[in-house]
Amino acid sequence: MRKALQTTALFFKTRILFFFICATLIACLYNCNTSKPEPNANGSETAHNHYPLPDTSKIPNDKTGEEIRYGLMLFTKTAKYLGPEGKLAKITGNKMNCKNCHLDQGRRIKCNNLIETYLKYPQYRSREGMVLTIEDRVNNCFERPMNGKMLAYDSREMRAIVAYIRWLSEGHVASFEDDTMHLGKIALIDRAADPIKGQKVFEQRCVKCHGEDGQGRMDSFNIAYEYPPLWGPNSYAMGSSMHRVITASRFIKWAMPYEQFTADPVLSNEEAFDVASYINNDTIHPRPYRPLEKDCPDLENKPIDFPFGPFLDTFSIKQHKYGPFKPIKEFYANRKKDKK
Ligand code: HEC
Ligand code: HEC
Repeated sequence: MRKALQTTALFFKTRILFFFICATLIACLYNCNTSKPEPNANGSETAHNHYPLPDTSKIPNDKTGEEIRYGLMLFTKTAKYLGPEGKLAKITGNKMNCKNCHLDQGRRIKCNNLIETYLKYPQYRSREGMVLTIEDRVNNCFERPMNGKMLAYDSREMRAIVAYIRWLSEGHVASFEDDTMHLGKIALIDRAADPIKGQKVFEQRCVKCHGEDGQGRMDSFNIAYEYPPLWGPNSYAMGSSMHRVITASRFIKWAMPYEQFTADPVLSNEEAFDVASYINNDTIHPRPYRPLEKDCPDLENKPIDFPFGPFLDTFSIKQHKYGPFKPIKEFYANRKKDKK
């Protein structure tokens, strides 16, 4: 009898222990899941402890908030208001929206977000060889990727866009050294990017949304692009940052294919470089022309993937366009070391 009681007690103890272990395991699994950044319906990370995402429902309900919201609207519906048939003004030359390249209204981590941007301007830029204000930088994107005119510096629209960008940075500290949260990093590959291989990646991974001809698809009202074009007269102009193979690879690696956003990119570094070089191959894929002779007067700090001379080095234009980039990077790093 006593033995039986002991056995029963042991049985219960084991069961309690068993339940305890199960509960701990479940709790751990739950915690492990929630402490990792989880993509939400938009593909954003909702709970990123180190990098809190701006929550647009918290834009204040006051006069400043009104202008911030106006800026947000222009940022997401640029074509409707400022496009070639814009309701407010005709500023941009294509029907793209700012958010086409600055995902989730400029809030998606590693996908060209503008969260810390306001904190980093005025900033010296080698493309212009001078210090740019935030308004100058906004106008860069109106002129180049949007292939348009400059927005008047004192217009309500410019103020509103800047107010929105300022609001995005609330509670953040500028990380000047490391911009990987802004645009994800990519390791340079050892060979040149290959447009022929890139075409295969394009056919497998991009055609579905951007179309076989890369021209994307307009929304049903014909007002803006639902899937923006990757080349051609309605795409970003030459000399846009997206026209440079390294920058485009970083964006494509972390932001595309759009639907599969997770913490881990889908494309390998090689695939990202190859497809970026295919899209940006100017022989097969022309795009709006911009005179670029005056770009990057500061040759020492010229982006190594800017494929228009003059250069301080003797690498070919082709190598500046497609790589291999490592030797060029090394060349300029050594020059800087020697100067010190
Ligand atoms: C075709 C793609 C594209 C479109 C469309 C576009 N941008 Fe950009 N934008 C870029 C890229 C690429 C960069 C540079 C990213 C980098 O290298 O840091 C950039 C940079 C910026 C920056 C500077 C960010 C920083 O932290 O230095 C601002 C501000 C900006 N864009 C605003 C806008 C606005 C406003 C619009 C709409 C009028 C717009 N962009 C449309 C691609 C685009
Ligand atoms: C599931 C649909 C989808 C797929 C697949 C996809 N994209 Fe996109 N892409 C988009 C959308 C949507 C945007 C605009 C994002 C926005 O407005 O929120 C975009 C934007 C872009 C942009 C910036 C805007 C522009 O037109 O220049 C580039 C570059 C780009 N995609 C390249 C690619 C490449 C390369 C692939 C294949 C590796 C790819 N995309 C696959 C949907 C897709």
